[in-house]
Amino acid sequence: MTMPTTLSTPESATRAIVRGDLLDFTADPGFATPLEAPGVRWRPDHVVLIEGGRIVAVQAADTPLPEGWADVAVQDRRGQLVLPGFIDTHVHCPQLDVIASFGTELLDWLNTYTFPAERRYADPAVSHAGAQRFIKALWAHGTTSAVVFPTVHKVSAQALFEAAHAANMRMVTGKVLMNRNAPDGLRDDVEQAERDCLDLIQQWHGKGRQAFAVTVRFAPTSTPEQLAMAGRLCLAHAGVFMQTHVAENRDEVRWVAELFPDARSYLDVYDRDGLIGPRAVLAHGIWLDANDRAALREHGAQIAHSPSSNLFLGSGLFDWRQAQREGVNVSLASDVGGGTSLSMLRNMLDAYKIQALQGTRLTAWKALYTATLGAAQSLGLADEIGQIEPGRMADLTAWHWSRGDVAQHRDALARASHASKSAQDALHERLFVWMTLGDERNLDTTWVAGRAVFQSTPAV
Ligand code: GUN
Ligand code: ZN
Repeated sequence: MTMPTTLSTPESATRAIVRGDLLDFTADPGFATPLEAPGVRWRPDHVVLIEGGRIVAVQAADTPLPEGWADVAVQDRRGQLVLPGFIDTHVHCPQLDVIASFGTELLDWLNTYTFPAERRYADPAVSHAGAQRFIKALWAHGTTSAVVFPTVHKVSAQALFEAAHAANMRMVTGKVLMNRNAPDGLRDDVEQAERDCLDLIQQWHGKGRQAFAVTVRFAPTSTPEQLAMAGRLCLAHAGVFMQTHVAENRDEVRWVAELFPDARSYLDVYDRDGLIGPRAVLAHGIWLDANDRAALREHGAQIAHSPSSNLFLGSGLFDWRQAQREGVNVSLASDVGGGTSLSMLRNMLDAYKIQALQGTRLTAWKALYTATLGAAQSLGLADEIGQIEPGRMADLTAWHWSRGDVAQHRDALARASHASKSAQDALHERLFVWMTLGDERNLDTTWVAGRAVFQSTPAV
């Protein structure tokens, strides 16, 4: 008798169960009051059944498990808030090296801090170590999917794809295109850049959870010939994303007008080359006009609103409500290292403050929706990420409601006030306190495709 050469994995080994208080969204809560907001789905003390990296069922914890699940260990997060993993729609991997750099606005900041740091990624060892560090940092902040800028070097995109693919993590990235107005060691040329992009598309686009993005740094660092090449790539390869920056800073906007005198606007520089489509992710968009917003709406493109970056670099106040009124998709992004934290909670709080300065109140519902289902919908990935729903990938996070004496005290008061409020209002108060006082220190566990990839050490 011959021995089998391979052993099949028992089904239970690919299964997992997570138990906790589930919150996700079924629709955009908009800018309605906390009480009136639609789309909030709160399922206290439920279990999520996971098989082969996907959610297969969600049910109340006191409902009997389906046959065959009794032996699966329950990852018990009772009393914790379980959310879909966050989606950061604009973040720079190499800029962990320059986060929290003092004293400059965008163009100066790029030259003084960012470009020197990015030049180091020519070294494959730096690119690979940087990608690993970055992805682990995302998980440690509760982010499970991201749209990422690496550097101009092909190896920096390759390293990100490899690291994300090894973890079965959703990643959208592509080598940065920049062939002018940048220092030596950070410029490509049109032909080589096109070959690098084609190689990366062939190797990675659609492989597992990887997707390629045509990645134009911003209009000033690409010649018209390179922008035309980028447009051709978008046209020729269905399903690729496009990411860039637009209308972030007033000096930048003036510079673009000088460099592209025939374009109607900054956005038009991209639009006329075919770069703006439903898979376009444009960071910032603070200084757009109504025609630009109409173009974004018509194309189904999205603005990646980057609140901590906009405040830190002194770029300006994005009018989210106006964008929403005019039908533009808006997602939330950290934009580290212009942004000051990978934590989407910190960025939600900064977004709240930016809207407050303009007379709008951002609910915790709207903020959380935007960082989960909203981003998934804007990216065209809502059948994969953004909700705790059978069929979606099991990208989840579990959060402590409070950390530290002040937050614990405030959370206890919010809970005590429940009796005098409707259930949705009461939950919103608690959640808003969590969003405002919390950060990555509140995170207990991050799961990517059903596997716990981050686990906080127990507080002592
Ligand atoms: N515009 C062009 N490059 C960058 C960058 O790296 N960060 C930000 N915030 N804006 C940019
Ligand atoms: Zn950016």
